[in-house]
Amino acid sequence: MQGDHPAHRHLLPHFTRGDAWRRDDLVVIDRGEGCYVWDTEGVEYLDGLAGLFCTNLGHGRSDLTAAAAKQMDRLAFYPNWSFAHPASIEAASFIADVAPGDLDRVFFVNSGSEAVESAMKFARCYHLANSEDTRHKVIARRWAYHGTTLGALSATGIPNLRDPFEPMLGGCVRHVDSTLVCTNEPGVPARELSCVAAVEEAILAEGPETVAMVIAEPVQNGRGALVPPEGYWPELRRICDTYGVLLCADEVINSFGRLGHWFGSERFGAEPDMITFAKGVTSAYQPLGGMVVRGALVDRVWDSPVAMFVHGSTFGGHPVATAVAVANMAAMRDEEVFANVLRNEDRLTGGLRALMAAHPCVKDVRGTGYFHYVELMRDRAAGTDLSKSEFEQLLPGGVLERFVREARVLVRPDSRGAAMLAIAPPLVADAAVIDDLLNRVDQVLDRVSGWLRTSN
Ligand SMILES: Cc1ncc(COP(=O)(O)O)c(C=O)c1O
Repeated sequence: MQGDHPAHRHLLPHFTRGDAWRRDDLVVIDRGEGCYVWDTEGVEYLDGLAGLFCTNLGHGRSDLTAAAAKQMDRLAFYPNWSFAHPASIEAASFIADVAPGDLDRVFFVNSGSEAVESAMKFARCYHLANSEDTRHKVIARRWAYHGTTLGALSATGIPNLRDPFEPMLGGCVRHVDSTLVCTNEPGVPARELSCVAAVEEAILAEGPETVAMVIAEPVQNGRGALVPPEGYWPELRRICDTYGVLLCADEVINSFGRLGHWFGSERFGAEPDMITFAKGVTSAYQPLGGMVVRGALVDRVWDSPVAMFVHGSTFGGHPVATAVAVANMAAMRDEEVFANVLRNEDRLTGGLRALMAAHPCVKDVRGTGYFHYVELMRDRAAGTDLSKSEFEQLLPGGVLERFVREARVLVRPDSRGAAMLAIAPPLVADAAVIDDLLNRVDQVLDRVSGWLRTSN
């Protein structure tokens, strides 16, 4: 069925199946206030995914609008090539101040994918500066999402996103197991975890002299909010130091409060060499991404024959985007937004666990901070997973999307590797909003249970 909406005629959507897009139930989101958004028909939804893990301060912040307008009036644009402007200087200084350890140089781009591209290219430049020109490989993890441009897509470990574009441009990425089925056993040191050994073995198998960087999210989004086992990140740090490999934490989702801190790395006991960010740095009021890198590494590049970070883009560090980033970060600090996350994260986790206990169709609840996933199955008590046909009817673009919309909660059905719901509300969600969110997710799970009872 082809809906008769201008969107169907002219707008090409991102990662949306044609059959789902062409249906005539398109929701057009028109306005937002706090943790809620309204469609063009005036229907209210709870924004349970903060847009796409990014409207961290919530919707309708006129202070951020004012920061953008003020900057546009003063200087709408100037690049960060050879020149600087006050907004990018201020945003970089702010980020350097709150970043872990000696990560104090900030390179701005326009998206998370470009941030990952930048980290990959910076690692190459750094190794070139050390005359290690064979170090060009990247170790990444299966099911991790690191972006969609062909460089970042090479690091992404989600088969259905990669397969249409194989062979990748360089073929320089080796994927290893994530932390999904890797848990601490009492008395067994982190060094012996299979997910740790997998990284070291991959570096050794490739030849350490060929490996430029390891990239990993502190809490991995792909496969559903994978919180690492105790000691995992210090082990990644040890391995990278042992073999002269740079460690990049991809914090496009994890940073700017999603886990209750400026950077998710703070929670896991290791300082990376580079952190990539995007999304929450402006609470998505403007597109902005970037990487923050240890100053000594930048100096090494500048003081070598390589002489510069050989990378850039017209809009990287755009004055309006960086001015909004400053206003956003100042508000996060002044309004103690991260304290709100830390205060309420157990309410969210505990509430989702209670829903799991009440609904046999929930296989697992994972996550921390305001970043959670609910994984679905047919029947926990009977130990039965969804059949292939049930999976395909639920997702993607299937009945689960309808259940979510009908419960008026914009949490995200995710079919990548399992049937899951991603739940990541704006960081300003207070206890009342969390309770409302849990109530609406409860309604979705009721619908799933009812549907499973009648499916065969
Ligand atoms: C961890 C991670 N890295 C990179 C990206 C790519 O970001 P963008 O969609 O802004 O290109 C994403 C997007 O969700 C992400 O979650």
